[in-house]
Amino acid sequence: MQDNSQKYFVIDFDSTFTQVEALDILGEIALEGHVEKENRLHKIKEITDEGMSGSLTFRESLVQRLEILDAHKNHLPLLVDRLKGEVSKSFKRNKEFFKNYTDNIFIISNGFKDFIVPIVEEYHIKADNVFANSFEFDEGGSIVGFDHNNALSINGGKAEQLKQLDLQGDVYVIGDGYTDYEIKAAGMANKFYAFTENVTRDNVLEKADHITPSLDEFLYLNKMNTAISYPKNRINILLLENIHPKAVELMKEEGYNVEVYPGGLDEDELCEKIKNVSVLGIRSKTQVTAKVLENANRLIAVGAFCIGTNQIDLNSCLKKGVAVFNAPFSNTRSVVEMAISEIIALRRKLYMSSQAMHEGKWDKSASGSHEVRGKNLGIVGYGNIGAQLSVLAEALGLNVYYYDIEEKLALGNARKCRSLKELFKKADIVTLHVDGRKENLNIIGETEFQWMKDGVIFVNLSRGHVVDIPALKDNIESGKVAGAAIDVFPSEPKSNDEEFLSELRGLPNLILTPHIGGSTQEAQENIAEFVPGKIMGYINTGSTSNSVSFPNLQLPAFENAHRLIHVHHNVPGILAKINQVLADHDINIVGQYLKTNEVIGYVITDIDKKYNRDVIKALRSIEHTIKFRILY
Ligand code: NAI
Repeated sequence: MQDNSQKYFVIDFDSTFTQVEALDILGEIALEGHVEKENRLHKIKEITDEGMSGSLTFRESLVQRLEILDAHKNHLPLLVDRLKGEVSKSFKRNKEFFKNYTDNIFIISNGFKDFIVPIVEEYHIKADNVFANSFEFDEGGSIVGFDHNNALSINGGKAEQLKQLDLQGDVYVIGDGYTDYEIKAAGMANKFYAFTENVTRDNVLEKADHITPSLDEFLYLNKMNTAISYPKNRINILLLENIHPKAVELMKEEGYNVEVYPGGLDEDELCEKIKNVSVLGIRSKTQVTAKVLENANRLIAVGAFCIGTNQIDLNSCLKKGVAVFNAPFSNTRSVVEMAISEIIALRRKLYMSSQAMHEGKWDKSASGSHEVRGKNLGIVGYGNIGAQLSVLAEALGLNVYYYDIEEKLALGNARKCRSLKELFKKADIVTLHVDGRKENLNIIGETEFQWMKDGVIFVNLSRGHVVDIPALKDNIESGKVAGAAIDVFPSEPKSNDEEFLSELRGLPNLILTPHIGGSTQEAQENIAEFVPGKIMGYINTGSTSNSVSFPNLQLPAFENAHRLIHVHHNVPGILAKINQVLADHDINIVGQYLKTNEVIGYVITDIDKKYNRDVIKALRSIEHTIKFRILY
């Protein structure tokens, strides 16, 4: 009679507990510097495949591989070191599972105890519960063979080993290979879970009771997920508009179920696609409207893989408890470099000079050409870009002056001006880096140009509507502005197919660029790293730092606690109600953080791990709750 109260977990080692095949790594170490290294490594892989497909017996494949490996006892510590860094990610984050079930977890592997035991022991798995082969060494310490009496050195060995173990209770097998399935086929296990975090084999998937892309999923299916809140592979992420592959890679690495779309989607398509999606990633084209949000039954975050968030209905996001993140300074440096290059190009009339050369004119003259060293640079808007420009410009020998409507810390030797007029009277070069708020419409017009020095250089890489274009045109034509660079326009073509129409076309010493100040490969890569980082921080810890919609909370890591994340309409008394519910359930609060904005309140409460689960239902049903989730 079986004792069904006991559950046993049989776990494979190669490509399951670790991400790799250990003998491949041993080959890399043992054959380091060997002239035949590449050939032999290739051969080892071939033999491994032959062993797996059945054209060689497993034992024969082992004999042949060990022969080619030429390995030695001294190589084993190096192998163990390498393997420690290759433990599967979901195993790493679920150490607690191994600790809690230490007596009931078995490693059954066709690999070798010599390297398996030191790895799994760190995960509280007992050496006595590891069943695998053992190396045999000659007197000099070279690996010359293995123990042929061991059941695990033959085909069907895993099932045979289970028979010998005679476990009384339910047996669950987790592995990536056909030999793991064979345990169940032989009637020695209740269920076989195909583990696909590292490799996927179709013939194994066909036989599986469940496919588990990570250990999280296995624990979730068996209601044993004590270390993590929700399996990441069940979190659907939809990335649109050709988001940089780096972002896709980062999110896949974290274990999310990621779907990628090259183009954008229109409102109706997105309304359909957004169902069951937890995180949406977009760039500037996709409109996240109130209607889209109505269809978003599981959405918790939107990542704007760009700077602007005008395409997102931020207010509706707030009301639905959806946090929005963007990349506010991922392209700061790119804009600054372009500003510097244009300032120098304009002071030296490089653009005009090049244009003349293309027309066949050779005009070698120093007239109107100046160094930037020692000149006064006037920065309007001393935010991320303005301040960074200040540092680089000073390194070039410019004297930096700035004007900002907010109180800003002057970097280096930069000097603050109290008004635009004061700034313009001093500046040989004026550069605009204000934000795009409505009030900044035409802040530079005829009057402001008249405050500037004759022959000033004028640069705008901020927003098109801040400059009165007819006034700029007049001042370029009159020579008041000796050179200008404009990257942003009040009205810009919607696509590369549309013509650029502007009265600025054809003016002298004027560099026109199509809103590319921040468009570099480096900026794209920065964005692709920054936004996933923020989203994962929000999912894993509840941190909302840099969110454009949510109240910003930078949270400490939580240890030995569960974290309750509560988003509610900002009405009085919710915090008191949360705490009342916790008190009614005798729950000890370890830490609590609250921040609100006009629309929502965001409360994080860390509590002792032992509590009555009824509290979750009670917290969810507090009136005005928008979203509630819990992190383990
Ligand atoms: P930021 O928000 O960090 O800085 C803007 C600064 O301007 C703030 O310090 C603010 O107080 C100040 N400001 C706003 N109105 C002002 C006014 N009327 N007078 C003086 N100061 C004022 O923004 P960040 O990241 O430095 O970006 C600056 C501008 O550059 C933004 O308009 C942004 O859209 C634009 N940008 C353009 C890019 C391009 O491709 N050309 C790429 C990236 C940003």
